[in-house]
Amino acid sequence: MKQEHNEEDQFYYPSKEIVRHANVKEYEALYRKSIEDREGFWAEEAKKLSWYKKWDKVLDDSEKPFYKWFTGGKINIVHNAIDRHLKSATRNKIAIIWEGEPGDHRTFSYFALNREVSKFANVLKSMGAKKGEVITIYMPQIPEIVIAMLACARIGAVHSVVYGGFSVESLAERIHDSQSRILITADGGYRRGKATHLKEIADEAMKRSATVEVCITVKRTGEACYMENDRDFWYHDLMAIPLECRDCTTEVMDAEDPLFILYTSGTTGKPKGLVHTHGGYSVYTAATMKYVFDIKPEDRWWCAADPGWVTGHSYLVYGPLINGATIMMYEGAPNHPFPNRWWQMIEKYGINILYTSPTAIRGLMRFGPSWAHRHDLSSLRLLGSVGEPINPEAWKWYHEVIGRGKCPIMDTWWQTETGGFMISPLPVMPLKPGSCAKPFFGNEIGIVDDHGNDTKQGDEGNLVIKNPWPGMARTILHDPKRYVEKYWEKYQDKGWYLAGDSARIDEDGYYWIIGRIDDVIKVSGYRLGSAEIESALVSHPAVAEAAAIGLPDDLRGNVIHTTVILREGFAASEKLAEELKNHVEHEIGPIARPAHLLFTDALPKTRSGKIMRRVIKARAQGLDAGDITTLEE
Ligand code: PRX
Repeated sequence: MKQEHNEEDQFYYPSKEIVRHANVKEYEALYRKSIEDREGFWAEEAKKLSWYKKWDKVLDDSEKPFYKWFTGGKINIVHNAIDRHLKSATRNKIAIIWEGEPGDHRTFSYFALNREVSKFANVLKSMGAKKGEVITIYMPQIPEIVIAMLACARIGAVHSVVYGGFSVESLAERIHDSQSRILITADGGYRRGKATHLKEIADEAMKRSATVEVCITVKRTGEACYMENDRDFWYHDLMAIPLECRDCTTEVMDAEDPLFILYTSGTTGKPKGLVHTHGGYSVYTAATMKYVFDIKPEDRWWCAADPGWVTGHSYLVYGPLINGATIMMYEGAPNHPFPNRWWQMIEKYGINILYTSPTAIRGLMRFGPSWAHRHDLSSLRLLGSVGEPINPEAWKWYHEVIGRGKCPIMDTWWQTETGGFMISPLPVMPLKPGSCAKPFFGNEIGIVDDHGNDTKQGDEGNLVIKNPWPGMARTILHDPKRYVEKYWEKYQDKGWYLAGDSARIDEDGYYWIIGRIDDVIKVSGYRLGSAEIESALVSHPAVAEAAAIGLPDDLRGNVIHTTVILREGFAASEKLAEELKNHVEHEIGPIARPAHLLFTDALPKTRSGKIMRRVIKARAQGLDAGDITTLEE
């Protein structure tokens, strides 16, 4: 890539090769067209998929903000991700290349993936799984997690994947909220050379949430597991089904039927179960993937996110499979046993596109460029980033050392709620390190003040999405009221979606994300709620009250800083601080472990009793706390 030297806003231009390859050669004209005729644009994209029955209406906005897309249409995402490929040469192509942390590997052609998915879909049916019921999946990064997701979708069940790094309370809460009767898990997985013990966590979660009647466990590590009669089954036992039962017809779904629930942290304690659908989500993930990452059927695509997060759902599983690409999947840590693990796999499998998070890049950058330089990374054509703002230093390292100065970086801004990319460059666009460039087709994205006025160019403001889009979450499971309040109430009169981020737009129309404006903390790109961490802390007998905030961190973006008031009879000590940190880890998961834990006698609160986290944050950073007129004490 050629680069222009202008310190403030340095542009990086794509090479002729990148432009020649690109699925979209020019952004502005197509963008304008997509805005002028949004429904026309999305109808064209929808036509590229296979429908059992075409939709009657592209967008139904009669019950705002509960938008519906492609109503009357009949589709199943699995029909597009697998079935239709079986009729072409894609049938024999590799769908998944998987490498385990210990170095074992497995591959599945589209044909083989279909066989496994069909078999497992029949297993689920034999356990009484029904269309519309929510099935919880709690697994490490092994191929069976993808098979389980696709099997659910194939029979019309709704999957709820809980990230394998979460722990007891997080899992129990999600099982309970979705009232799952079936849980799919594994004995464990490998991380940094050690086996995790997922089944143990699942057992404890099932004790806390009693809805599970059937638990299916994949044997990955071979460590001993407690198996309860009539409840626990081994995956491999169930999958040894006779040949004649191996076909499973894909269920015909309404476009608006739910495909999955994905829980994400919000500002209150309880995680929200966002609901995504078969129709709109298929169209959105397929189109964004194709345009932003220029995905071609011959590509080997590696999204290094865990399938337990939305990035994994949209761009590890569904987007690439709908586009008929080959997916790379890796189980373990990027630096195990050495910091060249990823680069080694890129060379070994000839990966063309790598999509990861700024935290992962910064983490690998620490070890210096020599680890990457040992490997031939020339197969790489494009790079991607997601989850948190990428600092220009990490961007440049990624671009120079991993991309050898030739691979444009697609910094994609989006959320669990949006289903797919909302703001992102395209490969043909000039890039600015640290900016996620421009809105994706069909989207009008504003940066506004509290009254809805555009901020002055370059000034920070609330990021709002001014239009519906097919990939949008339709509601929060069991809580439509909260969906309205959280996302749509603030700019109700205008009908805008409030993202919860602050951002600015520069003189070239490029968007720069600053960060969350609510009590969501992004640790290593993972999303956690202050309230979740606080409720984990107060569930410990020693804690009366707690406050959690995020503090900036060079490596992880943010780290968790907690302040705790102890109950009568408990004394502050190093040992107790450690115990409380362990407790949070046990309840939520290692990602939620507080970096700091301070004891205090009082927390800053408003007169109505709300903790003023802003004040704690300012103090912890040695900054002015700003307006504290509502502070009670
Ligand atoms: O704050 C933004 C940040 O991640 C939030 C969404 O988190 P989650 O729902 O977990 O989804 C993450 C993966 C899509 C956003 O509100 N975020 C996501 N991508 C970026 C980002 N911040 C800056 N730049 C990005 N590219």
